Amino acid sequence: MNQKRNASAFCNYNESFTQYDQNRQPNGLQELLQIFGQSRIPVGEQTILEGGFGTGSYLNYIRRHAKAVYGVEGSEQGFQETGIKIGDAENVHLQMGNILDLSFADEFFDAYMVNQVLHHLDTENTYPNLTKFLKESRRVLKPGGVLTINTCSQEQLDPHTGAYWNYRYPQNAVRALQKKYISVEALISRLEKLNFTDISTTIPSGRLFQESYYRDPESILVPAFQKADSLYCLLSESEIREITALIHTAIDDGSAYQHMYNVAERVDNMGEAIIVSARNPM
Ligand SMILES: C[S@@+](CC[C@H](N)C(=O)[O-])C[C@H]1O[C@@H](n2cnc3c(N)ncnc32)[C@H](O)[C@@H]1O
Repeated sequence: MNQKRNASAFCNYNESFTQYDQNRQPNGLQELLQIFGQSRIPVGEQTILEGGFGTGSYLNYIRRHAKAVYGVEGSEQGFQETGIKIGDAENVHLQMGNILDLSFADEFFDAYMVNQVLHHLDTENTYPNLTKFLKESRRVLKPGGVLTINTCSQEQLDPHTGAYWNYRYPQNAVRALQKKYISVEALISRLEKLNFTDISTTIPSGRLFQESYYRDPESILVPAFQKADSLYCLLSESEIREITALIHTAIDDGSAYQHMYNVAERVDNMGEAIIVSARNPM
């Protein structure tokens, strides 16, 4: 049994993170830098926090542009993988912890980013931990500091008309996954209630998965791929066997390829994710 510490409300990331980077890539890095840059303080002088940094792909890029980067992560495996990735970089400060209860002083950061983390915070459909997270974000951000939330919209997750071609097959699990994501409209309304300002949305460029996902339908049958997508945390082994059979049929009759290409065209417009950004009032 894996005894390492873990944080997600429904996925064991200690299992996922050993091969995560072979299947995933960070998207929206340019857009994040651009958002951080819309400040009176240049990015090179900013102290930036990442919550739930996973295997550290975002943080490892952003650190090359910022004065200092701090990270808080709840998975021990992620913490270890990130430590290897950043080596002896002096401007990076990592800790194991819970982003609902940060150990930093008030008004410490110029910017705070979370990337594909929000849907892991809550099990209740009123998203109480999301509010805790937003309040903690406001507390640790300097006046004028910016929060960036990289997440997915309900439209992007839709099993029929969304951005992920593999979501067509396990539709019940996809519906369950959608419920873990607060809608973008409801997220914005919560930010407004907490008096965040300058709320805006950006569709990040780039893709979340490695290239084989977009050209080879068999790639999603590999267990390491499935560990890198939290959808599969919601599927039992027998359900995985069922969708594997469906996908084999769809590969044999060619429909999987057709569907994959249709989704690729759609993604050019809708993107795979959305960054919701908001500022602490001055
Ligand atoms: C889908 S992964 C994303 C990892 C990374 N941000 C990325 O995009 O590559 C979600 C991450 O959030 C972390 N996480 C979830 N809830 C957390 C919490 N309350 N405190 C700290 N980390 C948390 C998980 O351990 C996991 O690393």
